[in-house]
Amino acid sequence: MSEKTNRFKIAKSFGSASSSYDTSARLQRYCGKHLMPWLPNRNDLTALDLGAGTGFFTELLASRYQQVIGLDISKKMLNYAKDNRDNTIYWLEADAYKIPLQDKSIDLVYSNLMIQWCDPLDLVLDEVMRVLKPGGLFVFSTLIDGTLFELKSAWAQVDNDQHVIDFKPECEIRPLLSGPDRKLLDTKQQDVILEYENVLHLAHELKSLGANHVPKKRAKGLAGKDKWQRMTKSYQDFIEPSGIYPATYKAFSGVVVKLSD
Ligand SMILES: C[S@@+](CC[C@H](N)C(=O)[O-])C[C@H]1O[C@@H](n2cnc3c(N)ncnc32)[C@H](O)[C@@H]1O
Repeated sequence: MSEKTNRFKIAKSFGSASSSYDTSARLQRYCGKHLMPWLPNRNDLTALDLGAGTGFFTELLASRYQQVIGLDISKKMLNYAKDNRDNTIYWLEADAYKIPLQDKSIDLVYSNLMIQWCDPLDLVLDEVMRVLKPGGLFVFSTLIDGTLFELKSAWAQVDNDQHVIDFKPECEIRPLLSGPDRKLLDTKQQDVILEYENVLHLAHELKSLGANHVPKKRAKGLAGKDKWQRMTKSYQDFIEPSGIYPATYKAFSGVVVKLSD
C-alpha cells in the first residue's frame, strides 16, 4: 500500500470514529495530561496541536496561549472539533508530512498519540523542526513496541496475518529526536495497562477510537467466527485473577528543543 493510500485510510478510519472518540479516549486523555508539565509557562505564544483529533487538548492549549492551531488529516475529526471547541482556535485540515505553515512560525508543537501513525517518522519530525522557531519546543507522546502485546500474541496463535500496527521501538525513535537542529531535553516511558471486560470490549474501544486500521493486514474485513473464538481463547492466558482482560500500552513521551541555525 502506498504511503498516500495508507494515510487516506488512517484519515477515513479516524473520521468514522469522530463522534464516538471522546467517550473512549481514556488512554489519550491520560497521556495528553502527562505532557502538561513540559508546556512553556509564557502565554504570548503560538502553538500547533499536530494530529488534534476532536480537539480536547487543542482547547486546553487555547486556554493558555495567544494563538492556537489544531491540525488533523481527518476532515470529520476537524468538523467535530469546530462544532465542540473554543471558537478562537484556527483549524487546519492537512497532513503532518506537509504542514501548510511558514518556516519558524510556531513556538510550540504539541502532539499527543499521533506520530505512531507516521511511517516514515523522520520526515514528519523534519516538518516539525521546519515550522518551529529556534528555541521552540516539540512536546509529544507516542506508543512504542510492546503496545498491545497481549492482542498480538493471541492472534499469533491463530494466523500469520498482521492484526496490530507496527509500533517502533524506543531505540529507533530516540536518534531521530537529536541532530544538528534539535536537542532532546527529557523523556519518559510508562506502561499503561487498561482493563477490559473481554476481548470484544477491547476491539470495540479500538474501533470507536478509529485506531483499527492496520496497513499491513492482508485479509480484509472481520476475521471469521472460528478464528475470532480461537484468538479470544488464547487471550485468556493474560486474564487477571479478578477476571479482567488487560491490554498494555507502552507510552513514550518527550520534549525536544529546536536549536538556532
Ligand atoms: C489517536 S488520535 C489523537 C488525537 C488527539 N491528539 C488526542 O489526544 O485525542 C490521532 C489523530 O492523528 C490524526 N492523524 C493521523 N495521521 C496523521 C497525519 N499524517 N497528519 C495529520 N493528522 C494525522 C488522526 O486523524 C487522529 O485524529
